[in-house]
Amino acid sequence: MDLLHKFLNIVLLPITLIVLLFFMPPFLILKFLWSLKRYVYSENVSGKVILITGASSGIGEHVAYEYAKRGARLALVARREDRLQAVADKARKLGSPEVIVVRADVSKIEECERFVNETVNHFGRLDHLVNNAGVALQLRLFEDFTHFSDIASVMDINFWGSVHSTHYAVPHLRKSKGKIVVIASAAQWATTPGLSFYNASKAAQVSFFETLRTEFGQDIGITIVTLGAIESEMTQEFLPEAQLNWMPVETTKGCAKAILDSTCSGDMYLTEPSWVKATFWIKILCPEVFEWCLRSIILNNMPQTSKKDS
Ligand SMILES: NC(=O)c1ccc[n+]([C@@H]2O[C@H](COP(=O)([O-])OP(=O)(O)OC[C@H]3O[C@@H](n4cnc5c(N)ncnc54)[C@H](OP(=O)(O)O)[C@@H]3O)[C@@H](O)[C@H]2O)c1
Repeated sequence: MDLLHKFLNIVLLPITLIVLLFFMPPFLILKFLWSLKRYVYSENVSGKVILITGASSGIGEHVAYEYAKRGARLALVARREDRLQAVADKARKLGSPEVIVVRADVSKIEECERFVNETVNHFGRLDHLVNNAGVALQLRLFEDFTHFSDIASVMDINFWGSVHSTHYAVPHLRKSKGKIVVIASAAQWATTPGLSFYNASKAAQVSFFETLRTEFGQDIGITIVTLGAIESEMTQEFLPEAQLNWMPVETTKGCAKAILDSTCSGDMYLTEPSWVKATFWIKILCPEVFEWCLRSIILNNMPQTSKKDS
């Protein structure tokens, strides 16, 4: 067995690189043509039933408006009901024929079951689930945490919230051959110091939904959205705290439109804004440089109270 591993260690990587070199150009051309076809025949969501978690502000709110403009019927979920009602009113004005709001906390499994059931009981079907609800913690280095009880909410909302919502939605999405949209983050690879638990929750979310996509095949489409910095309550809170006001932030409206275009085209992944993909390749190809940049740019701009010797 050891001999086999030694053999594979020597030959497999060079063979893979050579095969990729020949295979990639025709593959990329085919992929481009296929994406054009999917764009031209992109899904019409008019009259379809869309459940959006975290629809009371930011990205979820604007994704709701974008679906509304395209005539979809909406179920909006979050904890602040007054904000949800305001979003629902605007969504109706923008063209949604029917909107319901459900006050719920995605970190509680029984509430996930309730909002999926309320949606399906009301509309009789479910076509898209948008797993958007999420929170970030205050920027803090790992060594500055004294206890971990307040961290649990990040995993409970960002990871478990999307797992539980998906669990109850899947039987209905199978019937409609529907879609799941996962609002993840470039934080899963751009491992920003001070956000260790947020980054980990988003990495767990991506890995989970990539696995589900393999399990579901063509039955349920999954679009995984990895976002850079987007205008929202979250960025208003975190970018000034990290003194990263220079960071280019995309508008929530532009981001929501890109999410809908990509979902309706059946894309596997969307990175928005797309230049953020460059950071992925830098990390894969030169991890040393990538980490040095993160330490120099972000660690050095963090509030003094939470900075260890860098
Ligand atoms: N903004 C960015 O730069 C950025 C970048 C990468 C990824 N993201 C991801 O985008 C998603 C949306 O964030 P955002 O930027 O739009 O921030 P936001 O404006 O703070 O929106 C977060 C939404 O999640 C909801 N939410 C939070 N906890 C919840 C819970 N326990 N149950 C139900 N709903 C809950 C909030 O509503 P209530 O408070 O009313 O419950 C709110 O509607 C998040 O998953 C975030 O991780 C954002």
